[in-house]
Amino acid sequence: MEIIVTKDYEEMSDKAAEIVIAAIKASPELVLGLATGSTPEGLYERLVTAHKEDGLDFSHMTTFNLDEYVGLGPDHEQSYRFFMDTHLFDHINISKERTHVPDGLAADPVQYCKLYEEMIQDADGIDIQVLGIGRDGHLGFNEPGTSLSSRTQLVALAPETIEDNSRFFDSEDEVPHFALTMGVQSILEARKCLLLASGEGKAEALKGCVEGPITSMLTASALQVHPDAIVIVDEAAASRLERLDYYKWVQQAREQIAGTH
Ligand code: F6R
Repeated sequence: MEIIVTKDYEEMSDKAAEIVIAAIKASPELVLGLATGSTPEGLYERLVTAHKEDGLDFSHMTTFNLDEYVGLGPDHEQSYRFFMDTHLFDHINISKERTHVPDGLAADPVQYCKLYEEMIQDADGIDIQVLGIGRDGHLGFNEPGTSLSSRTQLVALAPETIEDNSRFFDSEDEVPHFALTMGVQSILEARKCLLLASGEGKAEALKGCVEGPITSMLTASALQVHPDAIVIVDEAAASRLERLDYYKWVQQAREQIAGTH
């Protein structure tokens, strides 16, 4: 894992945008995996700015989102499709047919999840998967106890996730209890994973992800076996890492090496 520690949320978003923008420029047909939630909003703002001000071209790209609430259609303001349209897709030059968010209204969710996996494979897999982390250490909606070899599936949300996500709804009762999510194994198959975390509330989960044992009780810990996982984290979210000084030292060394090339 490469750990990049940033001063704050803004710097975390700058760093993430730098990596994603460089990848799009290097490979315009990039297949980008996306997450929703508060954490990647700054990244999406920067991608929109890069398109509007510098002409960054998204027209050849394909995207796949991690997850969607069951029962919410694209017009529901809290659906993840609505989130992606309003935060990113409506402001860049990508045709909606190239953007994929699991269908929360699928009549046969089990069959649909298989289809979603096939769509990812048909696109030749995901080049970069953007990820957030839940307070309970979830990746996508892979809650504690989910098999680390899971694939895209229908899942029940953990009570703490329902509570956390109720901030986006009028009341906790309105938060769906089920979701479709890419599995842990599906996520690990992305060629690069980019996990973002910000704020004190994520510090404990992040410690488990980076330094804890690899366990289905904290599915983000599975990233430890990924050959190219980058964790971009602000000081607050990094505050409980035991080897923080070491990660900063490695980060400095990487920057020095990059500077000499
Ligand atoms: C969202 C997703 C979730 C979030 C996580 C953190 O698509 O897959 O795993 O990344 O719940 O959410 P925020 O960023 O709102 O703290």
